[in-house]
Amino acid sequence: MDQARLLPLGPSANALSRKREGHQHHTPIQPREAIAAVDQFFHGDFEIAYDKGLSSLPLTMKTRVFSGMQPSGNLHIGNYLGALKNWVRIQNDYECIFCIVDLHAITLYQDPAELRARIREMAALYLAAGIDPQQCSIMVQSAVAAHAELAWMLTCVTPVGWLERMTQYKAKAAKQESVGDGILQYPVLMAADILLYQAGIVPVGEDQAQHLELTRDIAQRFNSVYGDTFVVPGTSLPSVGARIMGLDDPTQKMSKSAEGTNHAVALLDPPDRIRKTIMRATTDSQPAVDLNNAGPGVLNLLAIYQAFGGASDEEMKARFIGMRYGELKKQVAEMVIAHLEPFQQRFRQITAEPGYLAGVLRAGAERVAPIANRTVQVVKERMGLYT
Ligand code: AMP
Ligand code: TRP
Repeated sequence: MDQARLLPLGPSANALSRKREGHQHHTPIQPREAIAAVDQFFHGDFEIAYDKGLSSLPLTMKTRVFSGMQPSGNLHIGNYLGALKNWVRIQNDYECIFCIVDLHAITLYQDPAELRARIREMAALYLAAGIDPQQCSIMVQSAVAAHAELAWMLTCVTPVGWLERMTQYKAKAAKQESVGDGILQYPVLMAADILLYQAGIVPVGEDQAQHLELTRDIAQRFNSVYGDTFVVPGTSLPSVGARIMGLDDPTQKMSKSAEGTNHAVALLDPPDRIRKTIMRATTDSQPAVDLNNAGPGVLNLLAIYQAFGGASDEEMKARFIGMRYGELKKQVAEMVIAHLEPFQQRFRQITAEPGYLAGVLRAGAERVAPIANRTVQVVKERMGLYT
């Protein structure tokens, strides 16, 4: 099996990205938290937060990383640059668990056969991106019952007002006549995913930052009511690519569920289609790149190029300032294709190997279930539930 990795990038923290992403900052970090702030993420030292209650956890344990994606819709370059690519980059430095969050996916109706297929596909995409199943656990959320179990216990310490304030909840609820309770509870299940494993670092795209703040709030509330139980996790956003915008409308986040053929580049799109989508991307009324007046469409294309290729701000400026938009788009398209073609080849190899994916997912669940079950046991004890 070809487990070749995508090129590791150097850290590309920069002013370009700050400007582009409207200066998003994390909440200040508490001393006890295990931390990964934006620019420290790839080379910072992390404080190891550990649970004083779980005395069997050694002080020297490797910080645990947890993240996940929903097996709904087609993964796109936003998911890749915002999350997946960074998972690959840090997998050797931490103890990583990468989850396929099927229980989150069913908060909106999923065709059962399609969902089953997408879970497998998602596992293959993780592997094709370069996640090494020898180093990390790749698992499906519903394979470990403790996720749903802990979610209920956390629901009982979470005020409804906290959930109703979530912007993603408000946006999803506004689109529906009847709002399923799962849409409201969604971030509590996400908190359970993370807290079950005492994860210290959660690498995600910018749209999940609010859910992570809520996770911290829930952990802190539980710890203060029942005694220190959970590690309070830190958020990790990439400095470039944390929020990739739609190519047809750069004021909207690139999203799996958006309509329109020119909205996103899916990770499995063939090169011709990628070229077409990028060549049709919305720019602005200028003829060429001028960083002082660039609109969101142009900044988005630059972000995509920079996040894939790892160029520094200086290199980006030298290459692109004054370049006409047609040429800019060509270069972005070629950069994306150069990364996605080998990725797609690995995907095909992985899916052609019978039984391989099932084995990876089984091994992942078996490896993590004891950790999750132990946390649920401790939580039950703390809450006075029957054990
Ligand atoms: P989801 O598609 O909601 O399951 O998201 C999976 C991961 O991709 C999460 O970490 C998201 O924050 C990230 N993500 C989703 N959309 C984007 C985007 N447009 N730009 C950057 N990251 C994204
Ligand atoms: N809610 C996340 C998203 O839509 C997916 C997710 C579920 C997740 N559980 C998680 C991400 C735990 C990080 C950690 O992107």
